Amino acid sequence: MTTACAPGKVILFGEHAVVYGRPAIAVPVTQVRACATVEDAGKGQGLLIQAIDLQLQHRLGSPISAEHPAYHLAATVQHTLQRLRIEHIPDLTMTVSSTVPIARGLGSGAAVATAIVRALAQHLEQPLSPQEVSDLVYQTEVIHHGTPSGIDNTVIAFEQPVYFVKGKPIEMLRVKRHFWLVIGDTGIRGPTREVVSDVRRAWQGQPERYETLFDGIGDIARQAREAIEDGKVKTLGKLMDENQELLQAISVSSPELETLIRAAREAGAIGAKLCGAGRGGNMIALVTPKQAQSVAAALRAAGAVNAMVTEVTQPQPTGHQPKNSP
Ligand code: PMV
Repeated sequence: MTTACAPGKVILFGEHAVVYGRPAIAVPVTQVRACATVEDAGKGQGLLIQAIDLQLQHRLGSPISAEHPAYHLAATVQHTLQRLRIEHIPDLTMTVSSTVPIARGLGSGAAVATAIVRALAQHLEQPLSPQEVSDLVYQTEVIHHGTPSGIDNTVIAFEQPVYFVKGKPIEMLRVKRHFWLVIGDTGIRGPTREVVSDVRRAWQGQPERYETLFDGIGDIARQAREAIEDGKVKTLGKLMDENQELLQAISVSSPELETLIRAAREAGAIGAKLCGAGRGGNMIALVTPKQAQSVAAALRAAGAVNAMVTEVTQPQPTGHQPKNSP
């Protein structure tokens, strides 16, 4: 039996503009995670995929429509088997579970896919590098989102704070001084695919205006990288507020996100913004460790269905777990 896990993530700076080639920064969130366990099954059983939380079961190779909730799980398994050059479906049971909330900008799809790829590769004794895992998970992200930038699969497969530019080699961030975030959940599903295509339509309609807004977001991400590498937490907060203004300007915020962002600032947060695609999902607030619990309480009082505190540090990968003997 082999188990592998993968964390969630938040985008600190640069969402949306990253789709148009500007830099973005994302960090893993280890408080939530997805895990996949692979066990040998009896001869001739085939490969059974089960997601117990979602009450899903699918036998690989049996017909499945692209709308079926297990479709992306099956596709991830299939792509991984192809990558490992395994031609016949092996007799295995794959069990998936996850505490990453679905469709809230915390990377649940990429976390589940990363756990599946790792567990399968380790169990079949062909471990893959983080870049190989990331490339496979990107294919699942395409199924989820259509035109993903690739930031989610990168930050989750590498499990490190990343400075990401689409199509460029991944750059890790040096976190000079740890900092703390409160992640507040609006409770509303963030419709990533829809928001990304609305932004594309708006960009096609007003290319100059949107290019200027994306440039502004890209500049903020560059400055934020310096602030993180120099340990300047106050500057980071100011940059989050500026990034939020530009996210409003591209119409991806929402009244619920604005309420939580305002509540965090009023409770003393150093800066706050939405994270991920927007129009739902989560927001993040930069706080001192002392403020963390009071800002989390203020978010709950303002309507957040969940408020989670996370510390951003230098990487401590958690996903690669040793193969256990059956
Ligand atoms: O909701 P999320 O975290 O999956 O956000 C997607 C981030 C975008 O920049 C909006 C899209 C992308 O592919 O990078």
